[in-house]
Amino acid sequence: MPVLIRSDIAGPLPIDQERLRRTANRLLRICRLPKSELSILLVSDPQMQELNSQYRKLNKPTNVLSFPLSEKTEVQNGTMLGDIVISLDTACREAEKLQTTLWKRTVRLLVHGIVHLRGYDHELSDRDAIEMENQEKILLEKLETFHRRINMPHLAINVDHIATLRQARGINEPDPVLAAGICELAGASGIVVHLREDRRHIVDRDVHLLKQTVKTKLNLEMGATEEIIKIALKIRPDMVTLVPEKRLELTTEGGLDVAGQTKKLTKTIARMTKKGIPVSLFIDPDSEQIRAAQDVGATFVEIHTGRYCDAESESERDKEFKMVAEAAEEAFEAGLRVNAGHGLNYQTTSRVAALDTIEELSIGHAVISRAAFVGLDQAVREMLALMKIS
Ligand code: PXP
Repeated sequence: MPVLIRSDIAGPLPIDQERLRRTANRLLRICRLPKSELSILLVSDPQMQELNSQYRKLNKPTNVLSFPLSEKTEVQNGTMLGDIVISLDTACREAEKLQTTLWKRTVRLLVHGIVHLRGYDHELSDRDAIEMENQEKILLEKLETFHRRINMPHLAINVDHIATLRQARGINEPDPVLAAGICELAGASGIVVHLREDRRHIVDRDVHLLKQTVKTKLNLEMGATEEIIKIALKIRPDMVTLVPEKRLELTTEGGLDVAGQTKKLTKTIARMTKKGIPVSLFIDPDSEQIRAAQDVGATFVEIHTGRYCDAESESERDKEFKMVAEAAEEAFEAGLRVNAGHGLNYQTTSRVAALDTIEELSIGHAVISRAAFVGLDQAVREMLALMKIS
């Protein structure tokens, strides 16, 4: 039991204890301490005053006290973190003053306590206070994006193959910029293009124009090479998805080896973050890659669904689906935002769309292929219909 909650308050608690336990567990996962233990004690003001007087020689109640089990600043996963004591009386008063709810205030205090237990201390110096505040902000932001989806996921359409057709003739049609507009009008929530080093389909002009015309969200898929990074930093798409890129491949093959290039990716992500561009990493459904994605500071991961879609038997497909579902769950629980894509078609999409951990599906080939027969507008609408949660 990683999180133990006790209460010395008489009568029913004014907050949901089980919800608090779940939130504390999530916070531990976000801090990469999923196996660590934490004890939370909920008290009233008189009890808090006693503790405050005993341990800090301050004879008055306070909102939260943290008692780390170890003095070490680097907390190891699997160790006992320590105790957090929260006064719900004080939290209640503060919530009223700050015009927030008791739940939100309690979570805020819990975050403060956890950051203390991880070795940060705002009382040491101004610099430490700023660092501690930053840590709290990061944790709260991650926690805020931590909602399982209730409605259907978003659909982002990859229009690379419209450009493939254009490049086959070397003239200026069909235009992926026009295609993007049609997809948006049909209900797509985002447009994806892959600017490859060899410019085999999407070219620089497309990305520049899409940046100006896309009304939903432009996701620039790219290899982490200096030339393309510079273009992304200049154009500033709504997000980028980093993928491995090989010149001879027909399409992106495996996921990115994040664990094998953490230094390079940390640097690239930091450069993007500085310009306000969130980064997604396209990865295979693999725990090691998820942990690495967390380490290098990615906001999103896109789980590679290719092996699930290409499976040659039902049992193989079930096995691959399970891996996608588990990876999405693990990434979500770790505080990453989760997308999925590659190879999804009109047969394989519904099952992935039903996973409540996934925000968005990125689909290209199947929709563009269907569009050749029924038109792009209808092809997008048909895919959206398959993604609806009944
Ligand atoms: N996601 C990523 C990272 C991709 O590289 C691609 C292919 O460009 C897709 C999604 C879309 O795959 P598909 O064209 O098979 O739908």
